[in-house]
Amino acid sequence: MNAVEIEQAISDLALKEFDRHEFPFAFLQAFGNKETTLKRLRSGSSNKSDIGGVLQANNIHILVSDQGAVTQNLAKLKDSPATTKSKARFILATDGVDFEAEDTDTGETVACAYQDFPDHFGFFLPLAGISTVQQVRESSFDIRATSRLNRLYVELLKDNPEWGSAERRPDMNHFMARLIFCFFAEDTEIFYKNGLFSDTVSQMSERDSSNTHEVISEIFRSMNTKRDLRSAEGIPRWADVFPYVNGGLFSGTTETPKFSKIARTYLLHTGSLDWTKINPDIFGSMIQAVTDEEERGSLGMHYTSVPNILKVLNPLFLDDLRAKLEEAGNNPRTLLNLRKRISSIRVFDPACGSGNFLVIAYKQMREIENTINERRGEEGRKSDIPLTNFRGIELRDFPAEVARLALIIAEYQCDLLYRGQKEAIQDFLPLANENWITCGNALRIDWLSVCPPTGKPSVLLATDLFEDQVKQDLVNFENEGGETYICGNPPYLGSTWQSKEQKQDLAEIFEGRTKNWKLLDYVSGWFMKAAEYGLHSNSASAFVATNSICQGQQVPILWPAIFSIGAKISFAHTSFKWANLASHNAGVTVVIVGLSASNFKQAKLFSINDTGSPVVKYVDFINAYLVSGFDVIVDAKKENANGFCEMIRGNTGNDGGFLYVSPDQLASMKLHPKDQARFIRRVYGSDEFINGSIRHCIWIEDSNLEAAMAIPIIKDRIESVRTTRLNSKDPGARRLAAKPHQFREMNQPLESMIVIPRVSSEARPYLPVGLMPYPNVISDRNFAMYDAPLWNLAIIASRLHWVWIGTVCVRMRTDFSYSNTLGWNTFPVPYLTEKNKTDLTKCAEEILLARESHFPATIADLYDPVTMPTNLREAHERNDEILERIYIGRRFRNDTERLEKLFDLYTVMVAKNGITKSKAKL
Ligand SMILES: C[S@@+](CC[C@H](N)C(=O)[O-])C[C@H]1O[C@@H](n2cnc3c(N)ncnc32)[C@H](O)[C@@H]1O
Repeated sequence: MNAVEIEQAISDLALKEFDRHEFPFAFLQAFGNKETTLKRLRSGSSNKSDIGGVLQANNIHILVSDQGAVTQNLAKLKDSPATTKSKARFILATDGVDFEAEDTDTGETVACAYQDFPDHFGFFLPLAGISTVQQVRESSFDIRATSRLNRLYVELLKDNPEWGSAERRPDMNHFMARLIFCFFAEDTEIFYKNGLFSDTVSQMSERDSSNTHEVISEIFRSMNTKRDLRSAEGIPRWADVFPYVNGGLFSGTTETPKFSKIARTYLLHTGSLDWTKINPDIFGSMIQAVTDEEERGSLGMHYTSVPNILKVLNPLFLDDLRAKLEEAGNNPRTLLNLRKRISSIRVFDPACGSGNFLVIAYKQMREIENTINERRGEEGRKSDIPLTNFRGIELRDFPAEVARLALIIAEYQCDLLYRGQKEAIQDFLPLANENWITCGNALRIDWLSVCPPTGKPSVLLATDLFEDQVKQDLVNFENEGGETYICGNPPYLGSTWQSKEQKQDLAEIFEGRTKNWKLLDYVSGWFMKAAEYGLHSNSASAFVATNSICQGQQVPILWPAIFSIGAKISFAHTSFKWANLASHNAGVTVVIVGLSASNFKQAKLFSINDTGSPVVKYVDFINAYLVSGFDVIVDAKKENANGFCEMIRGNTGNDGGFLYVSPDQLASMKLHPKDQARFIRRVYGSDEFINGSIRHCIWIEDSNLEAAMAIPIIKDRIESVRTTRLNSKDPGARRLAAKPHQFREMNQPLESMIVIPRVSSEARPYLPVGLMPYPNVISDRNFAMYDAPLWNLAIIASRLHWVWIGTVCVRMRTDFSYSNTLGWNTFPVPYLTEKNKTDLTKCAEEILLARESHFPATIADLYDPVTMPTNLREAHERNDEILERIYIGRRFRNDTERLEKLFDLYTVMVAKNGITKSKAKL
């Protein structure tokens, strides 16, 4: 269950009649406990309570009592030896009237009326194993509001199925945006009286809900009618109390979906929340999921957290503003200049969703402006930062609407914070008619038309919340002369997931610029457009992206094109997990890349150090792999650059599976042991190698063919291989039909082979390279080095090699995809003396022996990052020690240092043959 689902479940529980016997179980169920767990607790078999309550070990001790004994019971729970013994983190006492609880880990407590306990659901989330509790707690309101609006939305669609159709969906979205505005306005005195909207709906609509839609529609009509026109327009007296809002929000049709009794109740419940607590950045991201069928399941739980957004915005420009503020001290003139500069800064997010990057940027700039005002003795001064300087492009209409709403709410909240309630309200209404969030495809729109450079007017019509584009005024910047900062987290979308239209978007941008653009992630389009924008405007940009654009095959395709037009990486954040709250989603691994065409003194390279804290390093140049050093691109090589042994792919079947034999099939073949020894071999693909599963194959040397064909079951299989190959569309496979008894290659070692799986999980701290003796066979799911000296294994098993492969080879989701030409042949190794080779051979033997000592553990067992055996880990450490000393005379401090050294060596290594600089390749 995710946080929203839990919130729904406990809100339902609080609404039900209190049942003192059932409450503890219902409470645990709301936090995702399964029926079987509850059954065991009910029967007492797993209930550890020593005071007649319900105690779930490691979680919670609950005591329900007669009225009036709640505080004493909480003390009893605290003193109970069972609470301590069973390590119950939470204690909870209630009588159905009062509710008290404590988190025994942190000492935090909750005391409230019983019906209000769902307000504290964030407090109990560790019960459901949700650990990002701080984040959830900070956004408790947003989760509750999303949850309620979600229920309302689903109910309304049930009552009005036609509003769910493609044509009516925008109307439904508009309606939701209007409601959100009303809920916010009624709690912030923008509507003069607290709760005015909900109270009016509650009082004026029938309890059977039959006219709810009419009442709401009249309220909307009133808010769209100027005061002096209201009597002529026949606005009823009860709706006349609402202010004139306009701003496009209530213009157009005021048609409202019909409400069932349940929907009306949901509406009033939603209104009863305290909407002053809304976080426009978080709420916006969550609420967009409500209107999106595919996303609704996760209910916006993958919203981008503020700290992550700041990882983009701070180095992009906010750090600099803060540094200038620091330098200015109390100098009024310098402060004034800084305020002027801030007021003309434009922030542009060309995939803005519901505007979270823009909202955070706005809030941060307001904070800096406020400090300036305070230092200049101008507290409460009206802000010079115009909302229209925060521009966005968003493909979907609802998030685009929410983005504008979110900015309006953020402006109000900042005014409230820095200027006071009276001033905040006085300047709030009517909303400005202009809009500056464009709904459209950012890869097709000319960014210069949405966000023109200084001195040029906007030429693209902005889409207003609901208005027809054609009626719009152009929205020009209020403060000319500013810098533009482009930011956001555009859709990542790997090449296989892109639609035809999205491929075409990329074609328009990259065709003629770079070869193989079809392999690029969709997000690449934003980088290229940002780099181009930088040619025409005083701007810098930074986006979050999947790390794949800075690894392996995408690097030589994308980055030469970007660098060739003068853009450089001004800052970057190396790979980190972009975690979110969706319980089913572990988060993607991302990078942040900042681009600038102007000269900057030093580039900033951020990374997460071994203890998980962020560190920054000032460097001269950041290359396309986000490594400080030379501007190089690693290209695949046919031969090993160090002159080491050849690594080749395992044997390819092209056989329809008929050369492979499962253990069951082998048993049913009933071969004579002599024939089995002659014609059957153990074969290793990556699953067999890593997970220890068993498979065999038919392996027939030409000289044995006649004898093999004399065995009917083998003959049948060979005939099936022949037919499969003959029917293949691939001419190469058809040619192989002439040798149906064999794999395409028949490679095998004289004595042994070093085996490297082509795909393996990045979670393993080392690449799971191994050694296989003759007569085993490996399939093309692995690479092999036949009869190579063992010190090669030591190199491949090293952390240095792991880091290189993770950077220059392709990654597939969270797996490494090993490549002989790109990973092995390019791997820079210093000259190895005979002594070095002997030392490394010993290291390899130790690794193999350490594995052997855990027989029959599989590679997957042995290299589990959590349970990896100590002796194996130590053997790898020794191997790293020996190898790294060969590189730099000591151990490397971290992976960043390893990569920098490898890139240095790589540069030297290929210099003789002409360095592959990041030139655009066509
Ligand atoms: C990963 S989300 C980021 C949105 C927001 N910053 C957030 O964190 O929630 C990417 C956004 O880009 C929008 N989008 C996708 N393709 C687009 C396109 N071609 N042009 C403009 N926006 C697009 C999506 O609708 C989505 O809202």
